[in-house]
Amino acid sequence: MIDFDSFFDERKTVLGQWPTGQDVDADEALEYQESISEEKRFSTRLSKADKESETLLQPRAGVALVESHIELLKFLHEEGGADLLPTTIDSYTRHNKYDEAALGIRESEKEGRSMLNGFPAVNHGVEACRRVCESIDAPLQVRHGTPDARLLAEITLAGGFTSYEGGGISYNIPYAKNNPLDRTIRDWQYVDRLVGWYAENGIIINREPFGPLTGTLIPPCISHAVAIIESLLAAEQGVLDITVGYGQGGNLAQDVAAIKTLRELTEEYLQMFGYGDVAVSTVLHQWMGGFPPDEAKAYGVIAWGAAAAALSKTTKVIVKSPHEAQGVPTKEANAMGLRTTRQLIDMLREQSMPVTHQLEEEVDLIKRETRSIMNAVIKLGEGSFADGAARAFEAGVIDVPFAPSRFNRGKILPVRDGDGAIRMLDFGNLPLDQETMQIHKDKIARRAAGEGREPGFQMVIDDIYAISKGRLVGKPR
Ligand code: 5AD
Repeated sequence: MIDFDSFFDERKTVLGQWPTGQDVDADEALEYQESISEEKRFSTRLSKADKESETLLQPRAGVALVESHIELLKFLHEEGGADLLPTTIDSYTRHNKYDEAALGIRESEKEGRSMLNGFPAVNHGVEACRRVCESIDAPLQVRHGTPDARLLAEITLAGGFTSYEGGGISYNIPYAKNNPLDRTIRDWQYVDRLVGWYAENGIIINREPFGPLTGTLIPPCISHAVAIIESLLAAEQGVLDITVGYGQGGNLAQDVAAIKTLRELTEEYLQMFGYGDVAVSTVLHQWMGGFPPDEAKAYGVIAWGAAAAALSKTTKVIVKSPHEAQGVPTKEANAMGLRTTRQLIDMLREQSMPVTHQLEEEVDLIKRETRSIMNAVIKLGEGSFADGAARAFEAGVIDVPFAPSRFNRGKILPVRDGDGAIRMLDFGNLPLDQETMQIHKDKIARRAAGEGREPGFQMVIDDIYAISKGRLVGKPR
């Protein structure tokens, strides 16, 4: 755990990074957080949902100006029926480019529409964040993609948000090319220490590692390993409430098995290292890869994600919109994605996934693979999860497909099997046992035989584009 003195020293530097940092007063921020009602606290809402086996709906949303952002969130709450609300942060803020965000705010005022792809919370500052949180009668979370998110955390938590997405691995490897992993892990330890400090003072802030990573054919064991490491790193700094995430793959048995094992394995490792008091919930992200441009078809993809969410009994689901192929959705399109999801969640509420041989096989496989990776990370770390993670990426013991980061090996090649489950054609340096690798090989070989072609890179490419073209498995027609 980061010690108090060095945390407070660092805090001075962080709050000095932009003038609005000066409005953060730690004790006053605590008092403000204490005044937030339980119904609007993220962690309380999540644990209630878990107890009642309810799946909560959450969109992504953010625009440049405060009043329009409030209007947008109100619309998604009232017309879309969102249970949990986001504030998606713009790209300039994600890269700590506050001068450019300021320009974006001015341009947006001039043009009368949002010229940023999210809400620039650092520029707007503590008071504006409080105005947003106070205007919405639901829990609010900061969603972003920021490698160094320390100042953003200080401002938004003082500003009344009760949940914060991201992590030192999951907001680096998929988002940046040149950011050293040890640096971002350290910066996120600061964020977790801040959340831990709130917790020590009785304020529970939910933390959510970003599950889907690059969103492109990620084998569950890879995203599970990252989620577990980030949970351990957070727990070490005193975080008490964590939501682990997973991006829908498209094969129902694999997706249901993934959500089930994600919770079990995260709890298992937290327990193993003495953090059994941390509350764990789960989030399923509706398909994060390419979408069909046809809105009617996009609703089909959204509905299938909603079905996976409902049947896996995940705590919450992050919802896509029919505008996904075009970019940031209008508020109407965003609400329609929510209502499509609502219909499925409510319709499937009474049903659960039948326990079949296929489901059990997926559960066993994901557990075996994730434990192999985790054992190797723990060994490499020699007592430090942060060192273990950095060394694991260096050695390719964890390897994220299609990531831009040069601190990621990029050697593994994922591909779908004949049922559309995500497997590996090339394991890179993943520390998997022979038997496990043979299962992947056999399943991929069966698909290849069925398609009358050799497994290879073309198959991977076909799979990346398959859903946007109306299939799950990229079989040539
Ligand atoms: N509002 C709504 N959705 C957003 N996304 C990114 N920024 C915003 C925003 N400001 C969505 C993209 C994609 C996902 C990764 O985030 O449309 O679905």
